Amino acid sequence: MSKTANKLSSKAPAKKRDAASADIAAALHGILADTFVLYMKTHGAHWNIEGPNFHSLHLLFEGQYNELWLALDPLAERIRALGDYAPHSFAEILKRAALKECKGGGKPAEMLDDLLKSQESLVANLHKAARLAQEAGDEVSAGMLLARIEVHDKQAWMLRASLK
Ligand SMILES: [Fe+2]
Repeated sequence: MSKTANKLSSKAPAKKRDAASADIAAALHGILADTFVLYMKTHGAHWNIEGPNFHSLHLLFEGQYNELWLALDPLAERIRALGDYAPHSFAEILKRAALKECKGGGKPAEMLDDLLKSQESLVANLHKAARLAQEAGDEVSAGMLLARIEVHDKQAWMLRASLK
């Protein structure tokens, strides 16, 4: 068992539990912010994609941005359940996001490549956040984060396959 294991268990001192919850909430804030930025990038790609594969990519992006949008609420509400406040402005989302906003424009391959790199970055951060939650014994947050990895791996695969 790691040093940090069971920090969130009822037997752990309240201060330790609170500290672990704050760390996990901070990690969830980063994941939520990146999911929001990726949602916007993907919806923007849906609107602005051009070229011979317009229709299939337009639909691919639609499926992905709808999933990303629906993922925001459970992440934000988990932050609230851990005792922190959820973001309340675009400024806060952008401040907490590791991903950079899309500048707009670009050829289809550039859009796909940017979305793919964003997905891969989010997966890397999800692994770190899930590990943090697991080490703290917060199985609910860990489960939520691991489920997100599965979704992003699948979305990344579809983007990667579209680039070939
Ligand atoms: Fe649309």
